[in-house]
Amino acid sequence: MSELTATEKEKAKKYYPLPKLAEKARIKSMDAYFKKWKYSVEHMEEFWADEAKKLDFFTPYEKVWQPPTGRNDEFVGKWFVGGKLNATYNCLDRWVEKGYGDEVALIWMGEDDTVKKFTYKSLMEEVNKAANALKSLGVKKGDRVCLWLPMVDSLAIIMLACARIGAIHSIVFGGFSAESVKDRIDDSACKILVVADEVRRAGKPRPMKNSLKGVIETCDSIEYVAIIKLTGGEVYQYEKDVDFLALMEQQSTECKSEPMDAEDPLFILYTSGTTGKPKGVVHTTAGYLVYGISSNYYVWDYSCLLDLKGDTPATRDVWYCTADIGWITGHTEIIYSPLALGAISVMYEGIPTWPHGGRFWEICEKFGVTHFYTAPTAIRALKKLGDENVTKWDLSKLKMLGTVGEVCNWPEWKWYWDVVGKGTSGDKPVGRPIVDSYWQTETGSYMMVNLGAITPMKPGSCTFPFFGIHPILLDEDGNKVTKPNTQAYFTYDLSWPGLMRTVWNDHPRFVNTYLTRFPGYYVTGDYALIDDEGYYFILGRSDDVIKVSGHRLGSAEVEAAINSHPKVVESAVIPYPHSVKGSTIFAYITLMNDDEASEELKKDIQNHVRSVAGPAVYPEVIMFAGAVPKTRSGKIMRRILKAVAEQKDIGNTMTLANPEVVEELIARRKMMGEIKF
Ligand code: WT7
Repeated sequence: MSELTATEKEKAKKYYPLPKLAEKARIKSMDAYFKKWKYSVEHMEEFWADEAKKLDFFTPYEKVWQPPTGRNDEFVGKWFVGGKLNATYNCLDRWVEKGYGDEVALIWMGEDDTVKKFTYKSLMEEVNKAANALKSLGVKKGDRVCLWLPMVDSLAIIMLACARIGAIHSIVFGGFSAESVKDRIDDSACKILVVADEVRRAGKPRPMKNSLKGVIETCDSIEYVAIIKLTGGEVYQYEKDVDFLALMEQQSTECKSEPMDAEDPLFILYTSGTTGKPKGVVHTTAGYLVYGISSNYYVWDYSCLLDLKGDTPATRDVWYCTADIGWITGHTEIIYSPLALGAISVMYEGIPTWPHGGRFWEICEKFGVTHFYTAPTAIRALKKLGDENVTKWDLSKLKMLGTVGEVCNWPEWKWYWDVVGKGTSGDKPVGRPIVDSYWQTETGSYMMVNLGAITPMKPGSCTFPFFGIHPILLDEDGNKVTKPNTQAYFTYDLSWPGLMRTVWNDHPRFVNTYLTRFPGYYVTGDYALIDDEGYYFILGRSDDVIKVSGHRLGSAEVEAAINSHPKVVESAVIPYPHSVKGSTIFAYITLMNDDEASEELKKDIQNHVRSVAGPAVYPEVIMFAGAVPKTRSGKIMRRILKAVAEQKDIGNTMTLANPEVVEELIARRKMMGEIKF
């Protein structure tokens, strides 16, 4: 066997949380974890019944779980059947009723350093005003409301206001385009669109409302466009506009929360898949909340009002998740789980690198953050800016760190550990834990995750399943893979309350995407392996989803945006390695007329895609191609395109309908020279 290098040796070590964390932890040892996990999967109904006690139901449920009928169009079954509850009641009112109204709930900070501290009571009052304002616009239980907003406090308030009256929110990430907003509005027939006049970004106002011109007029279901005036800049007026903040000011601070059925949708969140338009992932009221709070509770151990019995908290932990609410992480980790547990949640409007590269750490110091949760792409970006951006801030209050969205690879893991967490090195490295949480928009909260206080870490591994989660690795033919270190399809064979129930308006798509490839299993779309100690490692997507800066993009959507350029016939996009973003988009483009290929045309296509799909979707590298390799059934062979782009061995081209194009692609790629990000 060859010798390991020093780095490889270090990487292969296990890393341990500071021992004192275990003393106060809710699960105090790995033995206790394994025991509870075994119980949770063998007695799943009893386990989830216990966890559901963390919520307040208006009407108790009759049955913890109603299993699916056995048909392959179901998997999840129904959870907490017959129960009635309200998500905002659980996030806000119950804490006020228990005497904790003056405790801080949400700390919001703007780009310009404005700080708004909402207590449970003041947040509830704002939410009630917004709920009454929505009602005055005719919004009723079951109606869909689209929110397209930057990370302002109104976003948190209005999403909770929707939940209060039983309206289903559909939040669209601010970095997507007006066209993507339209697609999502049309798909779920939203009645209201809430949008900002302009966005504040790195000190400058950027258009938001104006980009809807000519688009919103074509959204037939829209009855009102609720404007959140942030900058007061000049924006175009539309006859359905309403000044929402002004409307809120006229409303009462009281609004009864609507009793919702446990299985009623709480929200729709669109996510990219392999083909076609984004899918509206539907999460339910009880199951999503139970799963979110249970997983937050055991993984992080942050203090929360849930544990108090009428006593006043001495000190409270401070939770800061840096995600955007436009993604599932923001939904679950800034709003629903922390508030339903009665935590203090920090929400920041801006980007991590403006006005300076230490912004996240400044916020940690300022608010005494104890639990910090971010994405590997942010860690990579901050690592590049230099350690002094971190070390100049007082991070002594930090207890735990965390990551989500993609694999946290060794270089960023090690930096996070050493520089942010100040883990000490030595034979048994001990320091602030890094929680590596693996989950998906579809799964509501973490599936694979270390319990911060106790689980020994392996860099790059999301370690073990959360309670109630039963992962299975399968090979091509659906046989279980138990051999260590073998790449396999990552699936689950047991229902849990937080899993999505359906794709909005398209149940067959839900079935086709997740339940058909291996009947009886929920298929994640990822590859994974288990090592000889039972640690799970995620190896990337087995489908055509591309992750750029941890953001999920579907190749088909990016290609549709490129193909809508008048000079383009066809395109194929693949992920290409990028040192900060993880991957960036590499696009192969076939032109109507190959002679028109030029650098200017590349720029023009890039600008076109930005305007059609939004700044989050940017084909950073473009290579013009006479044709792309396809199978005889017309499917693009992305494996070959990836190999060509990275100038690696092409492998077998036997199954191609047009193997001759490969030589040409290799030659054109060679001409582009080294591409390194
Ligand atoms: C995909 C889901 C869940 C919130 C953010 C992403 C990848 C996610 C990890 C992790 C390795 C990860 C997977 C997954 N992923 N977390 N800890 N380690 N990969 O949600 O946009 O729905 O993306 O992100 O590929 O399937 P999403």
